[in-house]
Amino acid sequence: MRLKDKTALVTGAAGDIGFATAQRFALEGATVLLADINARACAGRCAQLQSQGLRAADFAADLGKENQVVEMFAAIKNAHPRLDILANIAGGDLEPLTGLEDISDAGINRNIDANLKSCIFCCREAAQMMMAQEYGRIVNMASIMYRGASSPMQMSYAAAKGGVFAFTRSLAINLGMFNITVNAIAPALVEVEALKQGMGTEIWEGLMEDCKTRYPLGRIGQPQDVANLALFLASDEASFITGQLIELSGGIRL
Ligand SMILES: NC(=O)c1ccc[n+]([C@@H]2O[C@H](COP(=O)([O-])OP(=O)(O)OC[C@H]3O[C@@H](n4cnc5c(N)ncnc54)[C@H](O)[C@@H]3O)[C@@H](O)[C@H]2O)c1
Repeated sequence: MRLKDKTALVTGAAGDIGFATAQRFALEGATVLLADINARACAGRCAQLQSQGLRAADFAADLGKENQVVEMFAAIKNAHPRLDILANIAGGDLEPLTGLEDISDAGINRNIDANLKSCIFCCREAAQMMMAQEYGRIVNMASIMYRGASSPMQMSYAAAKGGVFAFTRSLAINLGMFNITVNAIAPALVEVEALKQGMGTEIWEGLMEDCKTRYPLGRIGQPQDVANLALFLASDEASFITGQLIELSGGIRL
């Protein structure tokens, strides 16, 4: 049990990567707190873990909204004396398929709120608990797009994920003295239902065929690949790793 007696908050836990991470943590002994804007799906995921005999609780919040994050952390503090791990997984491209001429204020805000502000607000609140206990592991979710979008249609998403990378490094410098590590994961394409449904079966299957030759390892990522890395970064085995971004890309874009 690599996370025995730890309490871990996983945001975006109604989604496939967030859920895989929460489940991985719980199977390693953690009590997991699942947070998501999608209250119903989050409660469903939580019930799924509980039915497996795992310790889990769910919280509904729009994490891009400061007041909702503050309220959620007040509820967490009320019920849990410690918070050892924060995995900031909430996000996604909320201004997809948008060329430069069509980028809008509203679209930029959606991407910054869901991907960057949610991360910053949750880190700020979690850090208060972690600094007091002089222990913490923070894992943030970037994307390979942090380098800049390879397609011109995901520019505000790329900008938000680049912000997550810069924030991760800044926070690592600030929190190191409290025995808190802060790292980020930057996946390339990961197979999740939301993407598959968004693209439709035919486009998705064509893309998968293409990826067999484009990805050096011959496949795209799975939520479990992300969960495995998040587990390592959240564990004591990674106690001397901080301020790093790890690309989880099957070798694409080397
Ligand atoms: N799937 C990929 O190919 C891929 C690649 C790189 C990075 N990522 C990142 O991985 C993370 C998880 O995405 P996923 O692929 O599992 O997609 P997903 O859509 O299944 O999960 C994202 C979850 O985040 C939640 N969320 C979004 N905005 C929120 C907000 N403001 N407050 C609270 N919850 C919010 C959604 O409700 C959803 O449950 C995202 O940050 C995404 O940018 C995904």
